[in-house]
Amino acid sequence: MDSIIVTGNGPLNGQIPIAGAKNACLTLMPATLLSEEPLTLTNAPRLSDIKTMTTLLQSLGAEVSQLQDGQVIALSSHDLTSHTAHYDIVRKMRASNLVLGPMLARLGQAVVSLPGGCAIGARPMDLHITALEALGAEIELKDGYLHAKAPGGLKGAEHELQFASVGATENTVMAATLARGTTVLKNAAREPEIVDLVHCLRKMGAQIDGEGTSTITIQGVERLHGATHPVVTDRIELGTYMIAPAIAGGEVECLGGRLDLVAAFAEKLDEAGISVEETPRGIKVARRNGRVRAVNVTTEVFPGFPTDLQAQMMALMCTAEGTSVLDETIFENRFMHAPELMRMGARIEVHGGTARVVGVDRLKGAPVMATDLRASVSLILAGLAAEGDTRVSRVYHLDRGYEHVVRKLRDVGARIERVSE
Ligand code: UD1
Repeated sequence: MDSIIVTGNGPLNGQIPIAGAKNACLTLMPATLLSEEPLTLTNAPRLSDIKTMTTLLQSLGAEVSQLQDGQVIALSSHDLTSHTAHYDIVRKMRASNLVLGPMLARLGQAVVSLPGGCAIGARPMDLHITALEALGAEIELKDGYLHAKAPGGLKGAEHELQFASVGATENTVMAATLARGTTVLKNAAREPEIVDLVHCLRKMGAQIDGEGTSTITIQGVERLHGATHPVVTDRIELGTYMIAPAIAGGEVECLGGRLDLVAAFAEKLDEAGISVEETPRGIKVARRNGRVRAVNVTTEVFPGFPTDLQAQMMALMCTAEGTSVLDETIFENRFMHAPELMRMGARIEVHGGTARVVGVDRLKGAPVMATDLRASVSLILAGLAAEGDTRVSRVYHLDRGYEHVVRKLRDVGARIERVSE
C-alpha cells in the first residue's frame, strides 16, 4: 500500500489545473444506460472511482473506453446484457446506485445491491426508493439487493423529496426522462453536478426545466439519443487546492475554477483573511500577511458550505488565530480526520456533529492514516503547513477523487512524494 510523505516547506506559488468533477462524471456515465446511441464525455477526471463505474457499466453490457489518456470516455449501451449491479462492485462505491434509475427507465427492471455501511455515515437509499415508487416502480429488498420493476413502464408524477439528496435527485431525474407524462420533483438538490447532468440529458433529447432550483420538471420522451458533453469543473478539487496557499502561504491560481461553484466556501476564506479573486483563467488565492483568522462553518446542501470541503477547512482552522466551530449537518460521522490532525498537534474537541478547533501556532509532522477521501486530503493539506514530515498512509482513498495530487502540489513548490511501503 502506498503512502504520501509531505514536508512543510513554506509558501506555494504557481498554477494548479482543476480537473472535471468526479461526482458529475459518476452520474453522467450511467446516463449512457438511457440510450441506445453513444455518449461521449470530455474533460473526465482520471480516478479509481471512474474505473469502478466503468467496470460496473461493462458488467451490464455497456461498452466503455477511455481515450486521450482517460480524459475522454466513450460509452455505448446499445446492447445491455444484464440488469444486475452486483455487491462486489457496488460495495466499493456508493455512487454505483446511480444505475438504478436509468436501468429501470430503459429496461423496466433493475436489481441493485445496497451499498452497505460507509465510513462517514449510514447513507440509506430510502429517498431514492420512495421517489422511484412515486413514478410507479415496485421495489423490494431481497438478500441485500433492491429488486425494482416497472411492468407497465414508469409514469410521471409529482413527488417531494424529504431531504434534498443529491443521489436521489439524480436517479429520479434520469428515470423520469423516459417515463410517460410529466414528473415534478420538489425539494430537489441544486448541486452543480445536477445542473451538469441535466445539461447533458437535454443534449440527449430530454425535456427538463428547473435544474439548479428546488423544483425540477421533466417531460418524459419516447427515447434519448447520443451526445457529447464536457464534465463540469470539480468544485471540491478546486476548493481543496484553494486551501493549499491559505494554509502554507503564497499565491496559487486554480486554472478552470469558477467562483459560482464555490461561493459559500470562498466567502469563508475571505472572512478568514485569505484573498480570493476571479481571474480570466480561474481563481487566484493568496495569503499575504499574518495568520488566518478562525471562522465558524456549518455544512449545508448547495449553495451552502459543502460537506466535502469540511475536512479541508478543519485542517486550515487548526493553525488559525482563535477558536472555530465546525458543524457537520449532512453526514453523522464525518470527523474521522480530527484524531489524525490531533496527532499532528491540533487542538480539536468533537461532540456529536460539532467540532471545536482551537488554532495552534504550528502543526508538527506525524504518521497519520487516511480514513476516507476528503479526510485523506485534509491530512496532506495539514502536512503542507507542518514542521517536519507527515506520512499519510492508505492513500488509495485519495486515488478515488484526486488525480495527480503529488504532481499538482509539487508544481507549486510543495515537497511531497509517494512511496510504496
Ligand atoms: C453526494 C456526493 C458526496 C457528497 C454528498 C453530499 C456523489 C457521487 N457523491 O453523495 O460526495 O458528500 O452528495 O453533498 O455525488 N440520505 C438518506 N436517504 C437516502 C439518500 C440520502 O437518508 O435515500 C442521507 C444520507 O445518509 C446523507 C444525506 O442524506 O446523510 C446526504 O446524502 P446525499 O445527498 O444523497 O449524498 P450522495 O448522493 O450519497
